[in-house]
Amino acid sequence: MTLKTTLTLLVGAASLYAAAQTPIYLDDTKPLEERVHDALSRMNVADKIAIIHAQSKFSSPGVQRLGIPGIWCTDGPHGIRPDVLWDEWDQAGATNDSCVAFPALTCLAATWNPDMAALYGKSIGEEARYRNKNVLLGPGVNIYRSPLNGRNFEYMGEDPYLTSRMVVPYIQGVQANGVAACVKHYALNNQEIDRDHVDVYVDDRTLHEIYLPAFKAAIKEGGAWAIMPGYNKYAGDHACENSTLLLDILKGDWKFDGVAISDWGAVHNTEKVAANGLDMEFGSWTDGLANGASNAYDDYYLARPYLKLISEGKADTALLDDKAARVLRLIMRTEMNRNRPYGSLNSQDHYDAARRIAGEGIVLLKNNHNLLPVAEDVKRILLVGENAIKMMTVGGGSSSLKVQRETMPLEGIAAHAATWGIEVNYERGYVGDTTGEYNGVTTGQNLADSRSSQQLIANAVKAAREADMVIFIGGLNKSDHQDCEGTDRKNFSLPYAQDELITALAEANPNTVVVMLTGNAYSMPWKDKVPAIVQGWYIGSEAGNAIADVIFGHVNPSGKLPFTFASSLTDYAPHTNSAPEMYPGVDGKVYYKEGLDIGYRHTDRLPSTNVNYAFGHGLSYTTFALGKPQLSTPTLSGSDDTITVTVPVSNTGNRAGSEVIQVYVHDKKSSLPRPYKELKAFKKVKINPSETVNATLTLDKNAFAYFDDNRQQWIVEPGEFEILIGTASDAISACLPIEISAPGIAWHD
Ligand code: BGC
Repeated sequence: MTLKTTLTLLVGAASLYAAAQTPIYLDDTKPLEERVHDALSRMNVADKIAIIHAQSKFSSPGVQRLGIPGIWCTDGPHGIRPDVLWDEWDQAGATNDSCVAFPALTCLAATWNPDMAALYGKSIGEEARYRNKNVLLGPGVNIYRSPLNGRNFEYMGEDPYLTSRMVVPYIQGVQANGVAACVKHYALNNQEIDRDHVDVYVDDRTLHEIYLPAFKAAIKEGGAWAIMPGYNKYAGDHACENSTLLLDILKGDWKFDGVAISDWGAVHNTEKVAANGLDMEFGSWTDGLANGASNAYDDYYLARPYLKLISEGKADTALLDDKAARVLRLIMRTEMNRNRPYGSLNSQDHYDAARRIAGEGIVLLKNNHNLLPVAEDVKRILLVGENAIKMMTVGGGSSSLKVQRETMPLEGIAAHAATWGIEVNYERGYVGDTTGEYNGVTTGQNLADSRSSQQLIANAVKAAREADMVIFIGGLNKSDHQDCEGTDRKNFSLPYAQDELITALAEANPNTVVVMLTGNAYSMPWKDKVPAIVQGWYIGSEAGNAIADVIFGHVNPSGKLPFTFASSLTDYAPHTNSAPEMYPGVDGKVYYKEGLDIGYRHTDRLPSTNVNYAFGHGLSYTTFALGKPQLSTPTLSGSDDTITVTVPVSNTGNRAGSEVIQVYVHDKKSSLPRPYKELKAFKKVKINPSETVNATLTLDKNAFAYFDDNRQQWIVEPGEFEILIGTASDAISACLPIEISAPGIAWHD
């Protein structure tokens, strides 16, 4: 044997030996399930218990002796939260945890553009990845039931279809970074009052048609690797201990193979949580925001008490194996995925994405006499309102951020105005929240002002008389009882005497524009007195630039409302009779007696005066005309058939713009009562002046289905339907008949 042959044999033997030594779970060429199974087979009961509960505020351990890393979670959903101390909510004081704040999810939903959701998911996923977080605690997809819910700003509005279409690309974008999206708060977490215990009673049809579709889309289409059962109860059991939600629906019907991660402090009972489908426990003995016992991790329900149950033979070890396997799968999909990208933080791309999404999500509600965009002959603008100068990324609860930078509206508008030679003056107008601190993150702003409300209004009015144009920037903010986790709003009105102020400004200057930064609808007693209204949301780091883009016409607005702006609180069905059992509950129970009547599904039955601005409404600086739409077929007969709706859309104005074509389905006759119409397709199209483009939208049988609670199935009944086509839920310009001829097509999913 030559020396060369001998060496070759030796090298070959060594690599064979090495290969034989590489455990399957570490070998990423092996199938995921094989790796999970292998890792699990090497773990003892204590290892398995350890990986299914927290070891710190936001992390859980891996299995150190096997070299399996742990999990690091982060809020979500609008930016990557700053790091807190190991066992405290206080700041860790890190220097590398400042982020880009993306627009709140209400703004994302208002883009009505799934491409923006993909961009959002990709960008925030990159920030999470760079910060070495494995699980992003978001997005939030709870449906907008009441305008008083303090957390609506974290969600995507009132419509299950719109929310579903937006959540899927967000999740895919995040997870392409090897970071898990943890969709929250599953399910029926629609108010903050009594949020830890409120027990929700809702009929099955409403549950499946309104409150579950976005979660289902997140799991089945988005492939979310994690889900967060919320604080509330459903039909007597906490969401984290609810076998209907977790076992029957999530893991049964939807075949979820990821991890159900408790909301922080949402677990209450070891037996139930062990048996009913929760996989990981976080935040116990805290309220998720502030209070908490220290270093209580070993006492978690899924820690020592669970181990005790198992050692006494009182808990099924197969269920423990299932939980541990799911956690391992999550770790392998994220931290142990060697091929995932590296991510990036505070990149120009992320600022650009934030600004672009904001620009597409800002909604022009009203624009009489084309007051906007600002005309070139305007010489003096008066800006009024606290929200023009207030950092909005700090506060609001767990979504609070520590930003690398945030452009305030006054800065953004003044900078743009300067390039046009316009003078900008500022008046406070009202004093709202001056705290400037959340969870140890401080804005550094001193917003103290000792003037009385009357003085502030008088000063603003005086200045308004001298300006060519007034831009009021107000709304809500992130303090308690505004748009804030942990508390609901106390009423539907704007706080801090803003109604009085706006009315006075409008009287002083006919060119008054109102720009509202909120995550919720509000009453508008001044609606007919002001010529222009813009709904601006919470838009994050690029707030000032994005608002200026729209105000000065660099961006032509194309946002559409993702929820109804009704005239008064009682125009929302849960509040119609001011019945406390419907909101906020009596003796800890809340009954969703309004059923399907959420948002436009309810207001469609009311006179138009009960709505200020309808779901789907939003104007542009150009005008559009819809031509005669066409259906690809007048009859849907096979269960796999689809219908194409083609709508010619012309830009009849003189600047490029985007319009959102909305398709609603009306069932002319059905066995069960149905809402008058339901959104089933939409498409945003960009059109140059004098151009016509065809918007093509597709409907399949699912668009005609309803959930039959007796049969516990989605059903399509044969018969006559109408396809309603328009540019808002209250601006339907065409109605095409369609016949569903195949009898009783069942929903297959
Ligand atoms: C919130 C969650 C959040 C968690 C961790 C809870 O208070 O409800 O949305 O992800 O805290 O901060």
